[in-house]
Amino acid sequence: MAPTRDRYDAVAIVLHWAMALGIFALIGVGLVMKHADLPKMRVFQLYQWHKSIGVLILLLAIVRLAWRLASPPPPLPEAMPALQRTAAHAGHGLLYFFMLALPLSGWALVSASPLNIPTVLFGLVPWPHISWLADLPNKAPVAAALSAVHDYGAYALIVVLVVHIGAALRHAAKGDIPLSRMSLLGGGKEKAK
Ligand code: HEM
Ligand code: HEM
Repeated sequence: MAPTRDRYDAVAIVLHWAMALGIFALIGVGLVMKHADLPKMRVFQLYQWHKSIGVLILLLAIVRLAWRLASPPPPLPEAMPALQRTAAHAGHGLLYFFMLALPLSGWALVSASPLNIPTVLFGLVPWPHISWLADLPNKAPVAAALSAVHDYGAYALIVVLVVHIGAALRHAAKGDIPLSRMSLLGGGKEKAK
């Protein structure tokens, strides 16, 4: 009898929660730096924090996707209806899309910005602009378009996250997909098929 995992592995779980923390921070810092009435120096610092955490999320998303290929997730319960199964896969696919597309659009928009402000990750590591965007002759309209893509993309991610968290809690309440599958505290068990 082949054992069937009923939990994500430790690497996937740590990456899920570290990245969830980073993404919540990015949404919070992003909204505050853009809309709150703060001193210019504080806004500058918040932008640097936002860019640093955002680039880290990009790098972690690549590691996470590679890890997922090497170590596939535990199967969904066999009794789960086909439509719900498809919805779960599509929802997770969308989350991976945003984990890559948002940092890439952010990086692109700061590269195309006529303000040409350098990015120094956590005040330590210089992060280059994307050179072909930085070298465009007329950057302002490109930067404005990329900024709209990034901002509306972030709002779309918030909607997808509300659905994701709602679905996770609803399945936990029903008991068909326990939160222990993704819990840092353990609680799952191997079962024999
Ligand atoms: C309080 C917040 C969150 C809760 C309660 C939560 C809960 C969960 C749970 C229980 C699973 C496992 C689903 C299963 O058993 O198949 C899961 C998977 C997943 N979560 Fe979250 N999550 C949260 C936040 C986030 C955030 C912020 C992101 C990233 C944008 C995210 C991205 C994902 C992805 C991509 C998967 C699928 C992993 C895979 O199959 O490779 N989650 N989440
Ligand atoms: C998952 C990753 C990211 C998320 C969830 C995210 C989220 C956000 C949010 C919520 C805003 C405010 C949008 C608004 O209210 O209009 C924002 C703005 C911004 N973000 Fe990100 N961001 C991410 C990655 C990045 C990265 C990697 C960079 C740059 C390297 C970046 C640069 C910016 C900039 C420059 C703004 C201001 C844009 C403008 O003025 O329109 N972001 N981001």
